[in-house]
Amino acid sequence: METKKLPKAGTIEIAPSILSADFAKLADEIDQVAREGIKMVHLDVMDGHFVPNITIGPVVIAKIRKYSNLFFDSHLMISEPEKYADAFIKAGVNNITFHIEVVPNPTDFIKKLHDCGVSAGLCLNPETPVSKIEKYASLADMILVMTVHPGFGGQSFIQEAADKIKPIRQIVGPNIRIEVDGGIDAKTTPIVTALGADTLVAGNAIFGQSDRAKAIDAIRKTYAKQGR
Ligand code: DX5
Ligand code: ZN
Repeated sequence: METKKLPKAGTIEIAPSILSADFAKLADEIDQVAREGIKMVHLDVMDGHFVPNITIGPVVIAKIRKYSNLFFDSHLMISEPEKYADAFIKAGVNNITFHIEVVPNPTDFIKKLHDCGVSAGLCLNPETPVSKIEKYASLADMILVMTVHPGFGGQSFIQEAADKIKPIRQIVGPNIRIEVDGGIDAKTTPIVTALGADTLVAGNAIFGQSDRAKAIDAIRKTYAKQGR
């Protein structure tokens, strides 16, 4: 199987979140954004335990993998990601992002993910301080800064959570991606890119809109203006 690599840091990438897509026609929905030059799609996995909502698991991901060549960026909002990582990797995800709040040994888990050929994302909730990830941040391929409380799409952007991007960029340097998730649209994108984020998860702002090309373009224009 071809292994897809996380795009190298240095470019800004938009990762549309399928949480706001029509789950009855996921393959078509993903194809629509692929046609706009999108390289990665964000797959939100929720267990009804770590977050108060339930979405999809490896069974659905394995099915959509057959229809898409995009980089599958999975975001595991589940209590024991270590237990399920193999199943998600087998299903075809290319990145696993897990929450620092529920993984007691991030170093071992990141190593395991790398050994399995996928990249590792380290995620922190809005109320989790940067100090909690400091020791492990440079081991990961991507840091995911939640700018809403995880669980649902379409929530309002939390500026105080986004303010953690700058100190995290100082810790990890230029070669590790910083992804932002929650309330990202054409208005909030220039705020987070100016702070140092380069990977933009957008659910409602893309799949919640009828014209996906227009929605993607509106976000791209905002960072192009900053010369990114
Ligand atoms: C929320 C998920 C997000 C969600 C973002 O818990 O992790 O990926 O889809 O949705 P928007 O972009 O609508 O805030
Ligand atoms: Zn997410």
